[in-house]
Amino acid sequence: MTATDAPATTGTSHAKLQAWVDEVAALTTPDRIEWVTGSDEEWTALTNKLVEAGTFVRLDENKKPNSFYAASDPSDVARVEDRTYICSVDEKDCGPTNNWMDPEKMKDLMRGLYKGCMKGRTMYVIPFVMGHLEAEKPMFGVEITDSEYVVASMRVMARVGDKVKARIEELGDDAKYVPALHSVGAPLEDGQADVKWPCNPEKYIVQFPEERTIWSFGSGYGGNALLGKKCYSLRIASVMARDDGWLAEHMLILKLISPEQQVYYVAAAFPSACGKTNLAMLKPTIPGWKVETLGDDIAWMRFGKDGRLYAVNPEFGFFGVAPGTNEHTNPNAMSTINKGNSVFTNVALTDDGDIWWEGLENTPAHATSWKGEDWTPDSKELSSHPNSRYCTPIEQCDILADEYNDPNGVPISAILFGGRRKTTVPLVTEARDWLHGTFMGATLSSETTAAATGAVGVVRRDPMAMLPFIGYNAGDYFNHWVNLGKDADATKLPKIFYVNWFRRDDEGGFLWPGFGENSRVLKWVIERIEGKAAAIETPIGHVPTPESLDTDGLDMSDADLEQALSVDAEEWKAEIPQIEEWFAKFGDNLPTQLQVELDGLKARLGL
Ligand code: GDP
Ligand code: PGA
Ligand code: MN
Ligand code: MN
Repeated sequence: MTATDAPATTGTSHAKLQAWVDEVAALTTPDRIEWVTGSDEEWTALTNKLVEAGTFVRLDENKKPNSFYAASDPSDVARVEDRTYICSVDEKDCGPTNNWMDPEKMKDLMRGLYKGCMKGRTMYVIPFVMGHLEAEKPMFGVEITDSEYVVASMRVMARVGDKVKARIEELGDDAKYVPALHSVGAPLEDGQADVKWPCNPEKYIVQFPEERTIWSFGSGYGGNALLGKKCYSLRIASVMARDDGWLAEHMLILKLISPEQQVYYVAAAFPSACGKTNLAMLKPTIPGWKVETLGDDIAWMRFGKDGRLYAVNPEFGFFGVAPGTNEHTNPNAMSTINKGNSVFTNVALTDDGDIWWEGLENTPAHATSWKGEDWTPDSKELSSHPNSRYCTPIEQCDILADEYNDPNGVPISAILFGGRRKTTVPLVTEARDWLHGTFMGATLSSETTAAATGAVGVVRRDPMAMLPFIGYNAGDYFNHWVNLGKDADATKLPKIFYVNWFRRDDEGGFLWPGFGENSRVLKWVIERIEGKAAAIETPIGHVPTPESLDTDGLDMSDADLEQALSVDAEEWKAEIPQIEEWFAKFGDNLPTQLQVELDGLKARLGL
């Protein structure tokens, strides 16, 4: 069947949107076109189709109602940073940290790949909105995809369907939406049987920042294929934010309530697989303190009329790292997923129709690994991929803050930057001011994780935990941070802190117990804001005195605590050449203020 006679089940009265859909259909030649409505019947039909295709296995209704297990192709398990491009018109706008190709050249290349790529498949059109439909300027997108797995996952992760489409139509030409095209790149010849996880060895994840469009090809994995998430809400949104004076950041948002019922909102940026989802749903170990969740991965932050910085979470679900999640580390995530309506990818499937992963309670005697192999506790291989994920509706979270539904967001009191560092970086450090905090963020470093393909455990600079997500020149991005601080009322800006839950002892174990115990650090942060907690001034910033950190009931030796908090001048001196090498990448685009911060740090270290 050719594109022109491919019948559309429905269409749209929005002429421009319909024209784009027609154009994509003509290029990709799907057998069918379906507009995603968001209805329950649609979910049933989609998941049934996925079960029939073998992509989904339905889990036991009593254990995980309305939930599904999926195992990807072993080559398609994470974001592909080396295949991710920012195709700005001018190469210098992409900057030294992104891959670049001339946009027209990239489009020619990708049109070649897209040509006929949906043959034998259904093309789905997903109208979605990141953030609230009721927002002053709703942030629309329309994803076209040929993957049922993507449609099911998008329904969990974003607000999608008829209501969104109707609003786009109502706004007509005033409706700004990001067109986002996705294909797994696996056309089916007549009579050709499908595979469980169609994908293509050739992958491209491409953002066109000036046009604000996204083209993705070859992968079905979340970060590469659910285009509302990283591609739109971070890469494209960071460009919009630069132009319009706000911030699109890789941050969780949490609400902290003190024993005195004081409420504080905290945002925190850690690289992928470095603890955002866990901190967002933290169960404090210290008495009287309470945490509620607003978001676990992305924060859009704008200055309010009162001069404070307000954050909203544009997402609708959690796409969380499964391994390590359990009743102790993250009881709130467990309760969220146990309510069902979830998709689990690349975990293990138990013989009784449930899922399991490394670190979860009740280790099964036998399971099927993510690779489809027999697995027992004696197996040498892991049952689950280290980047296996649960995809679950945020509204099922017991501790979801009511303010999640407020399109205006919540005023942020503190921003935490953090990463995985075995050495050097203390448990928590307070920045002197916004500029110093921007320096901390710009020089943030972390060991690489399984969330992206490539080597794991290599220390790299990951500015504001945004290295893979800044949609433009990172030097300009630093300038944007510096300028926002310059133009703001300094007394109303969030205070900035740098945390590291991952420092190791001499035997290689974590010094700090982490998870719920991180509430002790949050308490210190709040008490610093309130002017109540003591700190020691060090060359890198203010760190807690051992007495100022609440250690009541903490199972940790004084020596370990001291080591976790210590600032070792020699370690920091060794860090300086790496920071200099990093800053040198940006040439004239590096804000002079950050160079001054570095010079100050060097002077304080006696260099
Ligand atoms: P995200 O990808 O940034 O959202 O990170 P997650 O919260 O999903 O955590 C990634 C991994 O780090 C999981 O395996 C967690 O169990 C682990 N993790 C999270 N928080 C902590 C912590 O405070 N201490 C330690 N040691 N591990 C943590
Ligand atoms: P994460 O989200 O930050 O929770 O790992 C997915 C990703 O960044 O790839
Ligand atoms: Mn992320
Ligand atoms: Mn996460």
